[in-house]
Amino acid sequence: MTEHADSATVAARMERRWGTVSIGIILALVFMAAYIGVHQGVMPQPRVETVDPRTLHIAGEFIESNLGTAAEPDGSVTVRAIGQQYSFTPQCIVVPADTQVTIRATSADVIHGFLIEHSNVNTMLVPGYISTIVTRFPAPSERLMPCHEFCGAGHEGMWGRIKVINKAAFAKLAADQRRMTCVAQ
Ligand code: CUA
Repeated sequence: MTEHADSATVAARMERRWGTVSIGIILALVFMAAYIGVHQGVMPQPRVETVDPRTLHIAGEFIESNLGTAAEPDGSVTVRAIGQQYSFTPQCIVVPADTQVTIRATSADVIHGFLIEHSNVNTMLVPGYISTIVTRFPAPSERLMPCHEFCGAGHEGMWGRIKVINKAAFAKLAADQRRMTCVAQ
């Protein structure tokens, strides 16, 4: 009988211990999510926008001539891009430093990842939906933009680049182009 009571006590103690550990893990994850949200400005997008992946190339916002970076009247820029097996269009995105950048992107086939290193840009491109993310790059730099969601046999070769140039150089580009990329450079 005493042996039985002892093992019940031990079991209760172990349960409490594991209960504390799992609550600790949950609290740590909640803290991480809150910290990243506040510190890096990573937020879910405010509304869901859909797009038909079968007609992306025929009409609408994501036709090829509309992809790349557009200068907006309010001084910000909008980048439009597509992910497809196994590349991004455009492959090289050019944006001005110290400027609000709104990225709008979608997928033409399967789910791809969209991440720009050393920035708050980290999202997925889901066929049928437009991913929108707002960011700002403090200074001229070059960054890699890997697909970080497994999307098929060629996934590991799916990379793009972001080129952040100074505002004056960007204004010069914008003076004679409606949509800018750095693909040819
Ligand atoms: Cu596209 Cu992985």
